Amino acid sequence: MLGRLLEQARIDAVILERKSADYVLGRIRAGVLEWGAVDLLDRAGAGQRMHAEGLVHHGTALTFDGDRLHIDFTGLVGKQVMVYGQTEVTRDLMAIREGTTIYEAEDVQLHDFDRRPWVTYRRDGTTHRIDCDFIAGCDGYHGASRASVPEGSIRTFERVYPFGWLGVLVDKPPVDPELIYAHHQRGFALCSQRSPTRSRYYVQVEAQEQVEAWSDDRFWDELRHRLDPETAERLEIGPSIEKSIAQLRSFVAEPLRFGKLFLAGDAAHIVPPTGAKGLNLAMGDVAILADALIEAVQEGSEAGIDSYSARALARIWKAERFSWWMTSLLHVFPETGAFGRRIQRAEFDYLSGSRVAQQSLAENYVGLP
Ligand code: DHB
Repeated sequence: MLGRLLEQARIDAVILERKSADYVLGRIRAGVLEWGAVDLLDRAGAGQRMHAEGLVHHGTALTFDGDRLHIDFTGLVGKQVMVYGQTEVTRDLMAIREGTTIYEAEDVQLHDFDRRPWVTYRRDGTTHRIDCDFIAGCDGYHGASRASVPEGSIRTFERVYPFGWLGVLVDKPPVDPELIYAHHQRGFALCSQRSPTRSRYYVQVEAQEQVEAWSDDRFWDELRHRLDPETAERLEIGPSIEKSIAQLRSFVAEPLRFGKLFLAGDAAHIVPPTGAKGLNLAMGDVAILADALIEAVQEGSEAGIDSYSARALARIWKAERFSWWMTSLLHVFPETGAFGRRIQRAEFDYLSGSRVAQQSLAENYVGLP
């Protein structure tokens, strides 16, 4: 997205990608876009297929031990979200962007980003060098960018959750027109979707769980257990076309600027998936960063790049809070015991009876400005 926004402003940007294009397009990621991300895709000229094939969702359901609560986004805050796979967003941006992407770039190293930055990488056994004005570190949690920053210049904040999500993709119609976030005493479950014929389901599993231990049958049995009986009855199952486990983590690095290097997306922060904020936060970062870089290049003003870190972090921490809160409400935490479960139940009951509390959930879910 950043590469596309810059090229629209006639600023050259080279993207270095460690994997192949096929690998990138084969990864199954998140599926819910805030309207800010929808607008950004439109600005990038890449929104056509999303509007044709994406599903506008006006609400979502939460269940707690079988009791159901509907959150009506449109009625509560007058906004919606778009269900459209992150992989499809990537595909559309790859298709429209004209600038250079170097796939299978190995051993990426950042140099002199305090003054005149340059980047080296290896491809087909040869080392290459790119001299540049700025480096955008959009290379994920395990990438080279954040790792290049001297330890004393960066502070990190982290919470690792004692569980993961086991996800299954299946070519069957979604069990419900809306997403269902389910708290059950056996653990969290989520019924999501990618299209009218393709569904995405998740169950909370223990932190060290191996995907090999989960046959399709075991997954479907566990999911049915955690849904209210009427939903479980309607669930259509089939062979999984993708199955994987993701660990849950909250993480923020501060600041996001180091001279001519800027961190964005998962390089700078991780949210647990509950609430679908990961992709949306990354989009928020690059929306701010693109405008800041355009201002710096076209107008010679550093005001935007000077304020990038503070502006992005203000938004990031609010999404961190929301994702942590959704995770805390909906998962089973082995360490909090019976008291913890009663508090979660009280939270659910409070939400059920309070329009104000529902508005807060909806406001955060559809995305803060
Ligand atoms: C999906 C993932 C999420 O974390 C979420 O909150 C909603 C949907 C998904 O992959 O479809």
